[in-house]
Amino acid sequence: MAVRKTLGRARALRVIPDALLANDTPRARPVHMHLEHTTVCDHVCSTCIRAERIDDEVHMPVDEACAHIDDIGPRFLSLNGIGEPLLHPQWDDIVRHAIDRHGASVGFATTGTHFADQAERICASGVGLVKVSFHGARPRTFSRLASGRKLEVVEGGIAALLLAKKRLGRGPEVRLNYVVSDKSYTELGEAIRVAARLGVSAVYFKGALVTAGRNSGLAGEHPIEELKDSVAEAASLAEHHGIDTNLPRWTREIARIGDVPPDQRPTPRGRCLIPWISVFVRIDGTLLPCCNCTWHPDEGHMGQVGKDGTFDEVWRGETFRKLRSEVRDGTYSLTICQDCPDPVTAPQFAESALHKLWPGFLSG
Ligand SMILES: C[S@@+](CC[C@H](N)C(=O)[O-])C[C@H]1O[C@@H](n2cnc3c(N)ncnc32)[C@H](O)[C@@H]1O
Ligand code: SF4
Ligand code: SF4
Repeated sequence: MAVRKTLGRARALRVIPDALLANDTPRARPVHMHLEHTTVCDHVCSTCIRAERIDDEVHMPVDEACAHIDDIGPRFLSLNGIGEPLLHPQWDDIVRHAIDRHGASVGFATTGTHFADQAERICASGVGLVKVSFHGARPRTFSRLASGRKLEVVEGGIAALLLAKKRLGRGPEVRLNYVVSDKSYTELGEAIRVAARLGVSAVYFKGALVTAGRNSGLAGEHPIEELKDSVAEAASLAEHHGIDTNLPRWTREIARIGDVPPDQRPTPRGRCLIPWISVFVRIDGTLLPCCNCTWHPDEGHMGQVGKDGTFDEVWRGETFRKLRSEVRDGTYSLTICQDCPDPVTAPQFAESALHKLWPGFLSG
């Protein structure tokens, strides 16, 4: 296993020249992949694309999931798509394959509602990072935005998982993934209080994606003074409790563009590295450049593995090459890129690596 991890790290470094030189046809395969192994979900959160559109709900067969993983040989695997990862009956077989065969670090975002009955299974699976999704931090907001989930049930689930981890002496890091929307941006401090009382060591705040154009992250219509106060309160509480967050980035973004009217705020500074280092494999084998594209299901299709060629052929094919050249030139034809709350630029990549607090795209 140690050898596989070392080889994985060495292979991961191979993406750096392609990414930094913005080579449209990278020689290396991505180091990170999202795999949508299920589109089954027992919720319809009001922030989620499922509130607008639910396509077929299916589980990917394990051999198909393993074949996608083998095509890429990822260093990092996020076992996520538009679905609840723990509802796939064999999710842990897929995790084990990625770890045993490729030495991958595996993580996923989850509602946390299935922790109580799967706590030991999660700890035994080898998954390294579990991100519990919060769409608000007060019980009423949480429940309203997360299709009736109860905060106390999710808190109970996290406590059960952390207890199982202690009992077994192994298990994943647990963090909160907080979606900052126009209905939840005043509760950032409360999210830190929840993390502190549960003993969770990190909270990642992600600007809500929306399907209707420029309204996510700081491009949104949040009254900037209120957002600023909420970020400042949360940052100070996080420091007090020793909880790691990405709030310094929110503070910097508010200082940079907070005073500009929302419809005139510039698109993010710097080139996003994601189309060189990461890929999203949809349930039907269609490749997307990044998980944000799931919010605009009719755009961003780079080709379908099997139908349009092998993984390598699609990864280095014309559609992907065109997308990379746009991202390199900052022309961004994809709506989601124009509106992206979280582009992974080189400085952000370095900051994430330093704090091991990756955005929703990466786990590790
Ligand atoms: C689509 S869900 C799939 C995993 C699982 N069902 C869950 O909710 O955690 C993946 C992540 O997207 C987040 N999410 C939901 N609505 C969002 C939005 N409008 N913008 C950004 N992320 C969102 C969820 O909170 C979750 O962390
Ligand atoms: S955010 Fe997750 S739990 Fe909520 S509807 Fe979407 S996939 Fe399901
Ligand atoms: S700019 Fe944003 S949406 Fe576009 S590829 Fe990068 S991370 Fe994804």
